[in-house]
Amino acid sequence: MSYVKVLNCPTIPLSNGLQIPIFGLGTSHYGGYSHDAIVYALTECGIRHIDTAKRYGCEEELGKAISDSKIPRSDLWLTNKLWPGDYGYKAAKKACLTSCSQMGVQYFDLYLMHWPESLQPGCSNREMRAETWRALEELYKEGVCRSIGVSNFLVHHLEQLKEDCSVVPHVNQVEYHPFQQPNKLIDYCRQEGIVFEGYSPLAKGQVLSDPTVLRIAEKYRRTPAQICIRWSIQNGVVTIPKSTKRKRVEENSQVFDFRLDDSDMAALGGLHDERHVTWDPTNVE
Ligand SMILES: NC(=O)c1ccc[n+]([C@@H]2O[C@H](COP(=O)([O-])OP(=O)(O)OC[C@H]3O[C@@H](n4cnc5c(N)ncnc54)[C@H](OP(=O)(O)O)[C@@H]3O)[C@@H](O)[C@H]2O)c1
Repeated sequence: MSYVKVLNCPTIPLSNGLQIPIFGLGTSHYGGYSHDAIVYALTECGIRHIDTAKRYGCEEELGKAISDSKIPRSDLWLTNKLWPGDYGYKAAKKACLTSCSQMGVQYFDLYLMHWPESLQPGCSNREMRAETWRALEELYKEGVCRSIGVSNFLVHHLEQLKEDCSVVPHVNQVEYHPFQQPNKLIDYCRQEGIVFEGYSPLAKGQVLSDPTVLRIAEKYRRTPAQICIRWSIQNGVVTIPKSTKRKRVEENSQVFDFRLDDSDMAALGGLHDERHVTWDPTNVE
């Protein structure tokens, strides 16, 4: 029997008692897909949490990589996301089941509404979010999704959803890196029992040449990517860096054997400049 490494990765409890691993692997379409990197992440780096979306176009390939890794489904945390083109009660339910079958799984550990805006004319964003969320609530009750959440939702989107629906989202996945720190949103989520998850933790590479990050990396003899990932983790933020390269996947996962001092955490906390490297939901009603 082959030896499979398991990463010593802490988890964060969701309001329904499930435990989400604080560190996972991103799979966005930006920069391409690497089967080799996913299998390597699972078998050699011990990563057990994978973040994907229908939008990324790699569900089938991911299913194949998971099957090639021979890691049992029950050992994995799989997050998938519903694209706004599939919003609406019936379309959402159908899209989730199709995504499950594309990936060859019976359930997702977490299923997110990807973006707060409706792409469908004649229906307000608020109405569409509420109708779609009703479908996610049912998928949750049926066990097709073990937890449900949202992505790119700001306080006003979450407040409206709270008024319109019964299950409070378990997670809100939002852009988060030293240049983009939505601390008021984080406080709101935590107050409401919503786990805050951060995406683009390396600011798609932009933060890796920042002089403060480089200085801290040198001090700890770590790489700039490891410093940024560790900073997210020490802030209690679930983080999902992406790489298509084996060496970087491994490097990014080696962040559980050191700790940043308070002064370095504060220095990284001072880098916020409101920059978005992905998309900005501020103007979505
Ligand atoms: N919910 C949403 O709306 C949303 C939006 C964006 C992202 N996400 C999720 O979050 C994940 C991560 O975000 P992201 O992919 O936008 O960006 P990211 O993880 O911040 O950065 C990825 C980029 O950094 C490079 N990189 C990775 N590790 C590196 C290292 N150790 N040294 C140097 N460069 C490194 C990668 O290139 P190589 O591949 O060449 O290594 C890639 O270009 C996504 O993949 C996706 O799963 C969600």
